Amino acid sequence: MGKSYKKFWKLGKKEFNTQIFDINKDDELIIREGNYQYNVFDLIKRFGSPMEIFMPFILEERLNHLFDIFSKRIKETKYRGKFYYHYPMKVNQNKEAVLPLVSEGAHLEVGSANELTLVKRLWESDSMHTKIRVLCNGPKTKAYVDLIFAMQEKGLRIVPIIEDLEELNLFKEFKGDLGIRINLETKVKSHWDKKFDRFGLSVDEIIELGKIRNLKILHYHIGSQIERGADIISAIKDAFKYYQKLALIHPSLDTIDIGGGFAVPYEKKSMYEIEGLSRSIINTLKKLSEKAELPHPNLIVEWGRYIVAPAQITVFKVVSGKKVPNKNRRWYVIDGSFMNDLLDTWALHQKWHIVPINHLSANKRNLVWLAGLSCDSDDAYTAGGGYILLPRLDDLDPGEDLFIATLDTGAYQDALASHHCLLSSPVKIVLQNGIVTIARKRESPEEIGKLFGW
Ligand SMILES: Cc1ncc(COP(=O)(O)O)c(C=O)c1O
Repeated sequence: MGKSYKKFWKLGKKEFNTQIFDINKDDELIIREGNYQYNVFDLIKRFGSPMEIFMPFILEERLNHLFDIFSKRIKETKYRGKFYYHYPMKVNQNKEAVLPLVSEGAHLEVGSANELTLVKRLWESDSMHTKIRVLCNGPKTKAYVDLIFAMQEKGLRIVPIIEDLEELNLFKEFKGDLGIRINLETKVKSHWDKKFDRFGLSVDEIIELGKIRNLKILHYHIGSQIERGADIISAIKDAFKYYQKLALIHPSLDTIDIGGGFAVPYEKKSMYEIEGLSRSIINTLKKLSEKAELPHPNLIVEWGRYIVAPAQITVFKVVSGKKVPNKNRRWYVIDGSFMNDLLDTWALHQKWHIVPINHLSANKRNLVWLAGLSCDSDDAYTAGGGYILLPRLDDLDPGEDLFIATLDTGAYQDALASHHCLLSSPVKIVLQNGIVTIARKRESPEEIGKLFGW
């Protein structure tokens, strides 16, 4: 019985990143870390809801898998360039996310002076290997530029990525390696494929560019959650044309940074996978560079959500239910907020996979829309007008509550979180090596008041 419900809720499947989830004999959700297991229902009893559960062991597994796959591809194709992973800090700047990745061998990418300030703290406390490399993207304010120069002087391998022609002047005297970002004209299927992209130098500017001292990296970022693997390959082919042109006058140029964009199967539908895509990437780069009679370039990827999203789930209690007027749906009101704590639900109609935490084997279910606790009618999750299936509240025992988990919430949501209606952010716990720690306490009404000057 448990087995078929596991399949029904799409748990235990590697291709959906749900291989860590299972259902125990009491119909409750469990999380496995190797042979250790955590009972999510018990965690709620200990720490309450709403709650974020962060799992660094997943980050470590995913990053190591990425390294293994690319090293395998490099070996089997006799590729002579190197593979580097730079973790884009914007995806999740929390210490519990950044440190495990650095410790597994990630380099870093930052997008602001404040993110670089966190790197500075790691550097000054002697907590980082000196070989780590930091790429600096984003528009360069004076504070950002000054910090880049200061960190370079302290010996950090820091690479400013030039965003526009003016920045070229700012870094004229820079002694280390430089990168340059190109605004490719390739179109990909993604929410972020804007008609007018504002990042990087235009293709024409790149073509007309004179010689840049110490140019090492050609970078682009073409969008996040790219829906088709083939688009990632088209972008590489497009970028290579400019790499080839630049390489003619810049012997120091030896690296292509393809940015972020690898998608996460949030909706638990099949999509492209790393095994196949890594093969196409390396084969493409090999063919293009050999045809151009250039050395195989080093490859940098900055895939953020791919590594981080599956490392967190967000847990809510259902506090009440009612019928949606004139529609075969029921509202389930949760004790947290989509608008505050899973903000992309509101901002870009992000879809999530939502599963019950208890009563996983209930065979009678409602078609449900979820409503957040704030007063805002936009604070809801309707699966894009569809529905989610959840156990019927009428079937619960008196005094019993239904809990639900939103999967894959590790990327971007924390830094975007807000305090509409002065709701408290969820408590955040971390699971690692069988030990449960609190990373962020539940905010008290007084603490929230303080944020607003009370
Ligand atoms: C320059 C750059 N690199 C990497 C990323 C990470 O993208 P993703 O999380 O889609 O992999 C972003 C996201 O906006 C970005 O702007």
